[in-house]
Order: sequence, then C-alpha cells, then structure tokens
Amino acid sequence: MAVTIGVPRETFPGERRVALVPRSCDALGKLGASVVVEQSAGVEAGFPDEQYATRGARSASRREVFRADVILQVRSLGANPEAGRADLALLHPGQTVIGFGEPLTALDQDSALARTGVSFFAMELMPRITRAQSMDALSAMATIAGYKAVLLAATTLPKIFPMLMTAAGTVTPARVLILGAGVAGLQAIATSRRLGAVVSAYDVRSAVKEQIESLGAKFVVLDIDTAASEDKGGYAKAMTEEFYRRQRELLTNVIREQDVVISTAAVPGKKAPILITTQMASALAPGSVIVDVAAERGGNCELTRPGETVHYQGITILGPLNLASSAPYHASQMYSSNIVSFLKLMLTKEGSLQLKRDDEIIRETLVTHAGEVVHARVNELLGLIPAEGAEGGG
Ligand code: NAI
Repeated sequence: MAVTIGVPRETFPGERRVALVPRSCDALGKLGASVVVEQSAGVEAGFPDEQYATRGARSASRREVFRADVILQVRSLGANPEAGRADLALLHPGQTVIGFGEPLTALDQDSALARTGVSFFAMELMPRITRAQSMDALSAMATIAGYKAVLLAATTLPKIFPMLMTAAGTVTPARVLILGAGVAGLQAIATSRRLGAVVSAYDVRSAVKEQIESLGAKFVVLDIDTAASEDKGGYAKAMTEEFYRRQRELLTNVIREQDVVISTAAVPGKKAPILITTQMASALAPGSVIVDVAAERGGNCELTRPGETVHYQGITILGPLNLASSAPYHASQMYSSNIVSFLKLMLTKEGSLQLKRDDEIIRETLVTHAGEVVHARVNELLGLIPAEGAEGGG
C-alpha cells in the first residue's frame, strides 16, 4: 500500500514555518505517496489549505495526520520540548518522523522518542557530503538567518549602509564585520555588500579566506595559530580557553572601528564561543549594533540575552532567535525541498518506505529505531557506549 505522509501544524511558540509546501506534494505524489496536511498548517508561511488541496493533499485533524506512516515536521520533539510532548501519545511504533530535533543536546527527548518506537531522523545530522547537499536543511536555514541578520542590523543602525554622494554632501558607507564565515556568515557578507557596506570578515578556518574575498569583503587575519581549528568534516573545533582569550585580545582593535558586528561563530554540539566581551563591546562607537546570530547557542557576545534587545552604553545588541522562521515562506520552501530530496532516498518504486541502514545518509541521521536510540554519537552522549578513544571500558 502507498505510504501516507502527514504534515502537522507546528506548535512551537512563534514558529511560522511548515515542513512541506504545496508544490512539494506533486513530487511526493509522483513517487506514489499520499499526503495529509493538518488544517491551517501552512497558513502562517503563506500557504493556505486550498493550495494543498489543488496539489492533491488531503486536509485533516491533527489526530488523523499523526496516523500517517511518515510525519514531517520543522520542529520535532527535541526542538519543541514543551508543546511537542502533547504529540508523544499520537506517535506509534514503526512510524517515521523527520524534523529538526537538536539530537546532540535534547537527550531526554531522544530517549522519549525511542520509547514510542518511531524511527526518528534528525535533519541537523545530515552529513555534509556532496550527495546530501540537496538535503542540507541547516545550510538552507542558515542562509536565511544570515540575510535576515543584516536586515535587522540595517534597520537598527542610526546610519544607512551605502555610500551616497548627493547635493547634501557625501555619506560614508557603514562598516560591517562578520565573525564566523560559515553559511550564515557568508550570506551576511553578501547581503551587507548588496546594501553597499564596507565589509570585513573573520573565521578561525583560514580555508574561507577565498570565499570571503570572492564576495567582496576583506579577510581579517589575526596573529594566532589556527592550524588545528578545523575538523575533518570542515567544521570548527572547540579551542582552548587560552586560544579564545588571545583571539578576543586581537579582535578588540578590529571591532572598535565597526558600525555593525554580525556574529555567527558556532562549534557543532557545543555552546557558542565568546568572541566579544563586555569590555570589547564598550569600545564600539555609540549607535553601533551587534547582531548575535549565535544567540540560540548562548551567543558570541557576553552582553547577549537570547531573544532580547539589550542597550548598553549607547550600543544595541540583538540576540534574535529562530531567524529562519521570520521569512517563513522561503524558509518553508527550502526546507520542504530538502525533505523531499531526503524522502526520495527512502521511497521505493512501489511507493513504500525503505530505511537503507547501510547508506551513510540514513545511518548518520537516524536517531531512534525499533524502540532504541541507534545513533552512535547520541548513544555516546547518553553514556550507553564509550566515546571513541576513551580510556577503559566504561
Ligand atoms: P557553523 O554554523 O557550525 O559555524 C559558523 C562559523 O563559525 C564556521 O565557519 C566556523 O568556522 C566559525 N567559528 C567557530 N568558532 C569560531 C571562532 N572562535 N572564531 C571565528 N569563527 C569561528 O558552520 P556552518 O555554517 O554550518 O558551516 C561549517 C562548515 O561546513 C563550513 O566549512 C562549510 O563550508 C561547510 N559546509 C559544507 C557543506 C557541504 O559540503 N555540503 C554544506 C554547508 C556547509
């Protein structure tokens, strides 16, 4: 029998995205799946129920949607720990759940999902390999976050971004510094440049120098050894406190010349490193703005209060949360496309679902299966198996 795919309305407070957009229903239909969408699930993202209906999806109650074989969510339990609990009783063994779930930190939620007997795939764990590029939802959402962070900075700054030469005189361009040039940081560079700012950027991974320069920004070089800062997956590694202290010392002079600092520095599975101390922030000119995109993971600035706007000695520090949800139409469209690519990997020609556990993409993203947590790193964190390289057996 053809697989049914259920799309519940998101219940995390303020979440406006939806996991599947109407256009994607066509693609799933062609793969032999039938789609059932909870009433109003896409409304906040700009996709009314009628649009799903014209693409062949059926509208239903939440309870009915959760009877589907596959549940598609933006925020599964780990990323929606309070409201998401209400859905636990609706899940059933053998069901597949796909969504963001903060699997490396929301360990209680990983265990709770395992107990329901569902196969839970966490989109955060998508390996950064070429074959999985079209499924890389973290990158898609980071692109939107980087763009939005710049718009927030531009509307908060008492200056304009571009240089203007007018009859009323010349206006100098805003100076923008981007800390952390991963996916969000690179999009922040591109967006700041489009608005006409003079942009510089810094990252511990010197490999990004070329990318920064190709976007028309200056790569900031600090006199600090970053040779060991990148892991084999291309991510930044957690560094020693001495490294971060030296980094802050050297960044102080760079920061004080900026109108805007957008910080995006993150280390997977860890709290974000502090790159801007209160003292460093005080060196900024009054009116300057810090947008701390890392606020969700504690923040890169000591003054950041996640989800709040802080005013300190004439400067403004924004700690936005869930930036991707503030552009819900395109965020949903991109996420939906990531999810469909992922599902294509599992749907057979006969329209049923097959979890190929020997496939790297499946193995790396599957957190729970048949009543157990099956992901090696999550199990290490849960203390069920010894960490790689750990001494002793226990
Ligand atoms: P992220 O969100 O984990 O971190 C953001 C940035 O912060 C990274 O560039 C990181 O190097 C930087 N950072 C960490 N600590 C820092 C510090 N102390 N000072 C300054 N910068 C610091 O990273 P994101 O955006 O998820 O990308 C990480 C890597 O993955 C990049 O190499 C990126 O090119 C790669 N990637 C590969 C993809 C693929 O192959 N399919 C897709 C997307 C990203």
